[in-house]
Amino acid sequence: MRFLSAFLFGNALTNAADRFLPPWKFVGTVWPQPQSMVVKEDYQILDANIQFILTPDSPQCDIIPDVFQRYQALIRSHFKSASSSKKLKFSSSPAGVIDTIEVKIVNCENLPSQNMNESYTLQVGSPSSEKVELTAMAEWGVIHGLETLTQMIHDIDYRPSINSTMITDWPRFPFRGFLIDTSRHYLPVSVIKAQITAMSWNKYNVLHWHIVDLESFPYQSQVLPELSFLGAYTPLHVYTINEIKDIIEFARLRGVRVVPEFDTPGHTDSWGPGAGPKFLTPCYTNGKPDGTRGPINPIYQENYNLMRKLFTEVNQVFSDSYLHLGGDEVPFGCWKSNPDITDYMTKHNLTTYAQIEQVWVQGMVDIAHDLKKNYVVWEEVFVNGVKISNETVVEVWKGKTGTWKDTMSAVTKSGHKAILASPWYLNYISYGVDWEGYYNIEPTDFNGTNAQYELVMGGSAAMWGEYVDGTNILPRIWPRASAVAERLWSDKSVNSSAAARWRLNEWRCKMLARGLPAEPELHNPNIDPNYGYCPTPFDPFNNAHFLF
Ligand SMILES: *[C@@H]1O[C@H](CO)[C@@H](O)[C@H](O)[C@H]1NC(C)=O
Ligand SMILES: *[C@@H]1O[C@H](CO)[C@@H](O)[C@H](O)[C@H]1NC(C)=O
Ligand SMILES: *[C@@H]1O[C@H](CO)[C@@H](O)[C@H](O)[C@H]1NC(C)=O
Ligand SMILES: *[C@@H]1O[C@H](CO)[C@@H](O)[C@H](O)[C@H]1NC(C)=O
Ligand SMILES: *[C@@H]1O[C@H](CO)[C@@H](O)[C@H](O)[C@H]1NC(C)=O
Ligand SMILES: *[C@@H]1O[C@H](CO)[C@@H](O)[C@H](O)[C@H]1NC(C)=O
Repeated sequence: MRFLSAFLFGNALTNAADRFLPPWKFVGTVWPQPQSMVVKEDYQILDANIQFILTPDSPQCDIIPDVFQRYQALIRSHFKSASSSKKLKFSSSPAGVIDTIEVKIVNCENLPSQNMNESYTLQVGSPSSEKVELTAMAEWGVIHGLETLTQMIHDIDYRPSINSTMITDWPRFPFRGFLIDTSRHYLPVSVIKAQITAMSWNKYNVLHWHIVDLESFPYQSQVLPELSFLGAYTPLHVYTINEIKDIIEFARLRGVRVVPEFDTPGHTDSWGPGAGPKFLTPCYTNGKPDGTRGPINPIYQENYNLMRKLFTEVNQVFSDSYLHLGGDEVPFGCWKSNPDITDYMTKHNLTTYAQIEQVWVQGMVDIAHDLKKNYVVWEEVFVNGVKISNETVVEVWKGKTGTWKDTMSAVTKSGHKAILASPWYLNYISYGVDWEGYYNIEPTDFNGTNAQYELVMGGSAAMWGEYVDGTNILPRIWPRASAVAERLWSDKSVNSSAAARWRLNEWRCKMLARGLPAEPELHNPNIDPNYGYCPTPFDPFNNAHFLF
């Protein structure tokens, strides 16, 4: 009925379509919005055999052949849907045929890092209408530039085309993270890779891998094999070092860092069986051990030795210079009940449990220092008053309704770098449109000086694993995580969710076309009766995909 009335009252629909771009008509918008993008009225069509070439003065960065191959395949896929048998309207004629993408790179960085240079410029239609010119400071800008270019392709007269465009682009924040949790539920390697691919499309650059937690210990250590042998759900629910290295390499090829988190001293029950009887603190009730175990016992040197052994291996496996040391939700009750801890505190003149927490955290920080790793901790380490060096990065995760602002203010006031996660826990789901809430967050919207705002390294979205596994994690993350991606990449002034809505819908449809099962986030028949579907129906069991 709705469609019929739209047909009968065609004028009303035309007016609506003037105000809001219909979702099925791709116009080549880009997500996340580039810093500077000037689109012109004229356009070029693409040659199906488009070639990628490196300028002779560019260094040969080792990831480039793989990057070129991936984007060539993606661009070619646009020719499958364009039917040559359709009668062309030739409403306007193209200014040329693009047959070459010429890429210039200034420097190879080889490993993505906190200081990676992701900037690029992209010129379509000038100075030559036959070639696209992409210039990047490093290989990461090539990935981002080709991603942007591919998103700009849309059909004009049934032919894949790109408007003449000039783009200068760089990320607003250097740290654009996404947390996955492989302890609550195991995630297959293929799903982690698909997630990394989708992150790269959205210009995320850090996979925060919360690899172990209290429920299970899937990291298969070679130096401490008992940890996963006794701590994983089954011997199948593990990540071998080879699998992890394969994931890290897969991510590097897509400009994504992998920062692992080994959360201590809380959230460690799954370590207990493999780490030995002294590892977890025995809890006492009425002066007697009650059989339960609390956080890691910070009074035994053996426990620091175990962590040093583990982190020495982790340092070799995970090439990134950052390590996440966790430190969230340490319950003090068990430590309080344990007489050995009380003795230790008396002997060492410690009066608060934050001080005993500090003893442990200091031990972890010392190991990280010795391994020359930078480290991130959850906000409690800071809030509990644990003394941490000023290089410690603090990740703020509490107070999603707004008190995160006070914590961000306090963290940066004390001179620490901060990562904001609180408002972007995508595992909290609700009925209806929720991406706008994520989109409307401004990470520097707290009371502070410019020097404090400079300490905001970026943000991180999270999908905690209690209710997701390989079956549902991707559709639950995407396209909701795209909203956060734009907030972290684009300029602060790109802040209107009303303006973003139509671009996000186009972007979701493009992700579907590439095989990512991104859920429908948008449906508002009151705005436009045709709203909320994509040009090609998505079939999860039969879809050309580009996820791996
Ligand atoms: C892109 O080119 C087409 C065809 O000339 C034109 O109709 C459209 O307005 C252009 N897009 C923009 C954003 O200028
Ligand atoms: C990347 O390189 C450009 C050009 O040299 C520079 O302006 C920019 O600050 C660099 N960005 C980073 C993050 O180093
Ligand atoms: C114990 O700590 C208190 C308070 O910090 C301090 O005044 C006292 O001198 C300390 N005693 C020893 C033996 O370190
Ligand atoms: C940390 O403190 C040292 C010594 O005061 C100083 O040199 C350094 O710049 C500080 N680092 C940060 C990130 O503030
Ligand atoms: C912001 O901080 C300043 C200085 O610390 C303080 O005077 C002011 O009341 C604060 N404003 C808000 C809104 O908290
Ligand atoms: C959004 O950005 C505009 C500039 O484009 C600015 O004037 C406005 O204050 C911003 N709104 C919010 C809520 O930050």
